[in-house]
This record gives sequence, C-alpha cells and structure tokens, in this order.
Amino acid sequence: MNLNLTTKKIKTDCEIVLIKNKKIKENKEILKSLNFKGNDEECILLPEAQKIYVGCEQTDHDSIRIAVATAVKKLNTTNFKSAYIKIKENLNAYIDGFELGNYTFTHYKSEDDNIVEKNIYIEVDKIDKNIQKEFEESVAICNSVNMVRDFVNTTPEDFYPEIMAKNALSIAKENSLECKILDEDYLEENNMGSMLAVGRASRHRSKLIHLTYKPSGKVKTKKKMVLVGKGLTYDSGGLSLKPSDFMVSMKSDKSGGCAVLGILNTIAALNLPIEVHGIVGAVENMIGGDAYKPDDVLYAKNGKTIEVRNTDAEGRLVLADCLCYAQDEIADIDYIFDFATLTGACVVGVGEYTSGIMGNNTALNNQVVKSALNCGELAATLPFNRYLKKTLKSEIADISNISSTRYGGAITAGMFLDNFIKKENKEKWVHIDIAGPAFVESAWGYNPHGASGAGVRLALEFMKNL
Ligand code: BES
Ligand code: ZN
Ligand code: ZN
Repeated sequence: MNLNLTTKKIKTDCEIVLIKNKKIKENKEILKSLNFKGNDEECILLPEAQKIYVGCEQTDHDSIRIAVATAVKKLNTTNFKSAYIKIKENLNAYIDGFELGNYTFTHYKSEDDNIVEKNIYIEVDKIDKNIQKEFEESVAICNSVNMVRDFVNTTPEDFYPEIMAKNALSIAKENSLECKILDEDYLEENNMGSMLAVGRASRHRSKLIHLTYKPSGKVKTKKKMVLVGKGLTYDSGGLSLKPSDFMVSMKSDKSGGCAVLGILNTIAALNLPIEVHGIVGAVENMIGGDAYKPDDVLYAKNGKTIEVRNTDAEGRLVLADCLCYAQDEIADIDYIFDFATLTGACVVGVGEYTSGIMGNNTALNNQVVKSALNCGELAATLPFNRYLKKTLKSEIADISNISSTRYGGAITAGMFLDNFIKKENKEKWVHIDIAGPAFVESAWGYNPHGASGAGVRLALEFMKNL
C-alpha cells in the first residue's frame, strides 16, 4: 500500500466514502435497495459508481480506523490499482486504518492472494508542515507496528534469540542506533543466574539485546527513558509444561521484546529529544535434561535469591535480570517501562484486548493509560496491595517466583518484578502486561488474526507527549 497526500481530487479506480452517523447523502436509492444501512463494519462496493461505502456510526478515532480498515479489505477483493478518499480531520486515524488494516501475514502460504499493490490518495484541505509531519510520523509508526507483527507471527523455528539479535542489529544499522548483543558468557560473568536458567534447556543460546538512541548533535536531550521487553521466542512452560491447548500461540511470548524493537525502530524517525534504551531478554523456555527445575533457587543480578516453584513463570525471571541490568548500566533514568506477555491472569482480568498497567506511581500509571487510549490501544490499571505482596514469600529463598494464592496473578507478577526495581526508580517504573492484546486468535477491529503490535503505539504516544 502506497499512501499519498493531495489537495485535489484525483481520478482513481474507486473512491472510499465513510458514512458517518448513518447519514447517507448520495446514491441513496441504490444503497437502500441493497439494504445498506451504514452500520459499523458494514461495507459495500458499487462497481458502476466506482465507490466503496463503509459504515462509521461514530466519529471517534477508533471508529474511523475500523471503518477504513473494513474498506481496505473490500478494496483488496478487487483488482483496482488506486483509490481516493477525501477527509476533513483526524489524518492519523485514517492512516492507521489503511496501514494497519491492510496487514496480512502470508509468509508461510504457498499461494499468494495476488493482491494488487494499491495507490491511495488522501485529499486534505491543505498540506502544511504540520500535516506533512503528522503524515510521515503516522506512516513510520504503522510500519513499525507491522514489522513487529511480522516478527511475532514468525514461527519459533525461524525466530529464536539469535535471529532476534540479528533483527536488532539491522534496526540499529538503519536508524544509526548503538547496539550491544550480550551472550550467555556475559550473563554468567555478571551473575544473571535468573535469566540464564530459563534458557538452559534450549538449543538456542540466550541473548541480551541493548539498543540505544541518542538524539543527534544539536538537540538537547531532555529525558532518559528505558524500555525493557520480555523476548521469550518460545514458552513451552519448561518442566512445568503447558497443556497442549495453552502451548499453541506461545511463539507470541516474544511480543514485549518485539514491541521494544519496534519502538526503537521509530524513535529516529520521530526525532524526539529523548535518550531511549531498549533492552530485550531473548530466551527460549524448553524442557530437557538440562532444564531448570521447580525447587531450584536462582541468583538474580541484584543478589536476591528466587525459589522456582513453577518454570512456566519464566518471563518474570528473565525480566528480573534485565531490569537489574538496565538500572546498573544506565544512570539517572527518568522512566523505566517493561513490556511483557506476562500472565494469563491479566487476560482473565481485563479481557484479551486490553493491557494491564501496573507500578508504584498511580499518576504515571494513569498517564500511560491515557496515552494508550489516545492512540488506539486499550489499557487499564491494576493496583498493587500489601496483602498480595505477602503471597510471594518463600520459605527457603528471598522470594518465590509464583504467588501462594490463585487469584490476582497479574498483580502478583507485577509485584514480583518490583523486587528488582531500585529504590530511586520505584516511582519511575511502569509494568505493562500485554498478554491479551499482543496476540489474538481471531481478528478484531482493524487487527487481523495473530500479532497486533501492542505496546508500540502506546509507548510512542507517551514519549511524544513528554
Ligand atoms: N507467557 C505466559 C503468559 C501468557 C499466557 C501469555 C497466555 C499470553 C497468553 C507466562 O510465561 C506464563 O506462563 N504465566 C503463567 C504464570 C503462572 C505459572 C504463575 C500463567 O499465566 O499461567
Ligand atoms: Zn510461561
Ligand atoms: Zn511466558
């Protein structure tokens, strides 16, 4: 898909028309005879008139995204080469609809659908600097979201820690970022026994990825932001093996790490005056003679001991060491966010379309929710409390990797991570559990089956508003 801005009507193979608030203004008769009412997600192609009509019951951004995505799908059933749409405002929502709604993952299909590459012309009243900037930024963000979707949808056979590291290197090269790839020797030398244990039974060596963006020359750096991602390229559960039905789709357990890569891939394009660090723990959780076990006690980088009671609660073990690494290596952090498909409990709690936002700073948590809602992601805060905190106590180590209660699992996972946040960073840290929206088995809104790229837009929106 090739998006273009214009200030004139362009002659194309077809025009896309959003029917807002069910108010049909043209071709009334024929649309009525075809029983088109303008409901959400209702879409019709009138070949003679060369028009695609799509319902958009409300005019909020998400309704626009969904309507445009619906129209794109209709367009893709044709061999039209070009389409035109006239808009008044909310350019970024239209771009999201086009770019995110057009995404499909066909890498493993032997026959492609022969979708003709489309040229889309978006007519706006005027093209000034601001509109041009909004256009370019929105396209850049969507491209990163789609890149993340590709990464996450790729099978564990084709996307393992080393491949994740290779992708990080090429992102770094393209965007002039610094990139460090640290291997298991480094983890061992630096006492990162928690992360190291999780990957031990895998034939793929674990990698710690560290990307850094520093604003160029003249730009005065205002804030320093750290993003940490859970990059489990596969989560079989380990010896606490997942039941078969729960294992399917666990290639998506790398979504947090991939989101971090996607965010770093866009920062340079947005030219933000922020120093941004992206840290990803890329690990595969498998079974085997060398696997870590329930009953093991692990030594994390900050010296804390962790009793393993369930090897399927592995994400927090990887993140614990990654969070320690981040805080040891980077001074004067302003914000430290982690992104992780951490718990099924979060999906149960807030539903599969919503991310769970946790941390010690209520105002900051709320700010993150606001950023999410502003850019088309869904998020809700989940509050910590002193009683759930106690359920992580261990008889033989400093802390247990699972809670003793079966309730509140998203929160106890977040509170586990809190043990690896230094005092000075307590209020600067936000944990974002994307277990629900990162990967959904059936299409929703403008997201197709599979990976959604959750977290990318949320983080960039937050950073744009700093
Ligand atoms: N990767 C899973 C969480 C998950 C579940 C992500 C469903 C996406 C969809 C995580 O590593 C895990 O297995 N968590 C356990 C924790 C439990 C053992 C305390 C869970 O949620 O069941
Ligand atoms: Zn797990
Ligand atoms: Zn996991």
